[in-house]
Amino acid sequence: MCLCFYVVKTLNPTKQAYIHPLHTSFNTLINSFIENKVGIAENFLSEALSLHLKENLATLYGDQQMKAAGTGNNNIIPRDNAIRSDMIYWLDRKHNDEHENSFFDLMDNFVGFLNETCYTGITGYEFHYALYEKGSFYKKHLDQFRSNDSRQYTMISYLNTNWVKEDGGELCIHHDNSVENISPMSGKTVFFKSSELEHEVLVTNKARMSVTGWLKS
Ligand code: OGA
Ligand code: MN
Repeated sequence: MCLCFYVVKTLNPTKQAYIHPLHTSFNTLINSFIENKVGIAENFLSEALSLHLKENLATLYGDQQMKAAGTGNNNIIPRDNAIRSDMIYWLDRKHNDEHENSFFDLMDNFVGFLNETCYTGITGYEFHYALYEKGSFYKKHLDQFRSNDSRQYTMISYLNTNWVKEDGGELCIHHDNSVENISPMSGKTVFFKSSELEHEVLVTNKARMSVTGWLKS
């Protein structure tokens, strides 16, 4: 757990100190992470960005660009359907896609804020689109590889509008003495330590979309 010495600055009426609007959701994510080991911010992605990324994902899927995800280091170990059945595509600034770049801009801001307020020393990240087709899942696992501990924090942003309980597909977090089920609602971002929390994706009853990634050092 990081030692966090950040201060939530309030508006000073005489000086009208400027608070960056993003910092509200950054603080929500970080504060809930500190309190509960899982940070959740409901509107981390704007509605527009969430929608654009979802459209990108749908296009990639239509063009058969989404590939079956592997397990283990760098996907060298072949896909194991018994463990996970999602499909992924890595985001990259080289794609020159306006919305991917907006997402990376947001993450650059967040990482800057996190490093400044929590001394986390994050130096990089990687993110992929993920699509769980109906019936897909990801069994209980940790996100840090045994042979490579560069992944420090897991960050997942969901892109699913109108998600209801019957749709399933919850992110299930295994705490020491309890489980926490999180619905993959559009705009919501979840944040936790990659080496610490075991988690799984419960079987989804309809297509489930996200941008998932890791802050690295
Ligand atoms: C993962 C993962 C969780 C989710 O991709 O490693 O655990 O809610 N995803 O999509
Ligand atoms: Mn995971």
